[in-house]
Amino acid sequence: MDSLLVRPSGPLSGSVQVSGAKNSVLKLLAATLLARGEFVLHNAPRIADVEVMCDLLMSMGVDTRRSGSDLAVSCSGDIVPEAPYELVERMRASIVVLGPLLARFGRARVSMPGGDNFGTRPIDMHLKGLEMMGATFDIHHGYVEASCDGLLGARVVLEFPSHTATDNLLMAAVLAKGASTIENAAREPEVADLAAMLNRMGARISGAGTSTIEVEGVEELSAVEHTVIPDRIEAATWVAAVGIAGGEITIEGARSDHMDMVIQKMGAMGVRVSPSRSGLWASCSRRLQSTDVATLPYPGIATDYKPLLVTMLAVSEGIGIVTENVFRDNRFAYVAELMRMGADVRTEGHHAVVRGVPRLSGARVKAHDLRAGVALALAGLVAEGETEVQEASHIDRGYEDFAGKLRGLGAEAERRR
Ligand code: UD1
Repeated sequence: MDSLLVRPSGPLSGSVQVSGAKNSVLKLLAATLLARGEFVLHNAPRIADVEVMCDLLMSMGVDTRRSGSDLAVSCSGDIVPEAPYELVERMRASIVVLGPLLARFGRARVSMPGGDNFGTRPIDMHLKGLEMMGATFDIHHGYVEASCDGLLGARVVLEFPSHTATDNLLMAAVLAKGASTIENAAREPEVADLAAMLNRMGARISGAGTSTIEVEGVEELSAVEHTVIPDRIEAATWVAAVGIAGGEITIEGARSDHMDMVIQKMGAMGVRVSPSRSGLWASCSRRLQSTDVATLPYPGIATDYKPLLVTMLAVSEGIGIVTENVFRDNRFAYVAELMRMGADVRTEGHHAVVRGVPRLSGARVKAHDLRAGVALALAGLVAEGETEVQEASHIDRGYEDFAGKLRGLGAEAERRR
């Protein structure tokens, strides 16, 4: 059990609705720690990572209530500024509570995130930036114990445009005394979405979505309503699906302006994509052509798109070289599973050479992480026989009813729990 069964079903058709962005809503939830009162997040995806973040907020004394795709969060009583191991271990992104907790309460105790299926993911840039704002840290028994006597605005130059380090520093800077600048900031649309909600709460942020973010600290913020932006990685998943299986679909709610490079890349492989009134239209009527792929921070090709692109290359005509530049250690773990389905891939360090094959064959494979699970499921759309993706709960972390959405496009897919 805990598997996803997929069988080949011919070209896809119909439409699919994209949910709210996982990498946005998790930070928006953390930002609710910055103010009293009731927040309402509209378009909040029903995914397991959101449940973990809600569990984390509730463990601190915050109340969360869901009604359809609305998530109400109220932060009225006393908050315990602590993120325990049991929850951080379930989701590394929990680290984004560190900035807001420090900013509002002057202290925080957050479990150190350990390794995960992408290898080690350090948090040194988060800590260094917060230190520049006046925080001090001790690491005891696996926990970061942070404190400050009121944060002070600072100029922080990030060594790499880390997405969650930018989020953490932004949420710290909004309540710091004086002005802050984050240079070499991450430019992801989800950072801009976080800044948009913070500004509505009363923060004074400019430049979010560019490499230089400027923040003028304020004394207090207030609760607001906010609509989460659509998930560009989910939207790209459906574009990849139609590239692999063929057909013609509409992807409701997708924002093409958040997906320029991936649309260009998938377009170069032969998927026709164009913006429609309600999102995106995508179609593919011939075998994909190989191309080379290199991941980069936004606006480059996101590392999260890579497993989708590798599956596309696995069934394309020609050879594609894939280079991972964001997470350099061990982000090709799923390739061995894809090879069990007949893919021809050689990996060497942070490169993979993918030689397209005319057909794959269904097999029992294991999802090592969220995007890998989805990439294997997409391979199942054109693999002869049945593909059983085990440990499919990884997919539930970031996709709302993935199997149901696939079925809505005419695919044969069944989630077994
Ligand atoms: C976020 C996304 C994730 C995406 C990734 C890259 C969330 C919840 N997750 O992860 O889906 O794959 O961006 O777009 O938003 N690094 C350090 N020190 C640090 C922080 C990061 O060395 O303090 C390194 C990492 O090891 C990695 C690179 O910086 O090599 C980028 O990581 P980062 O952008 O921080 O990824 P996340 O924010 O964890």
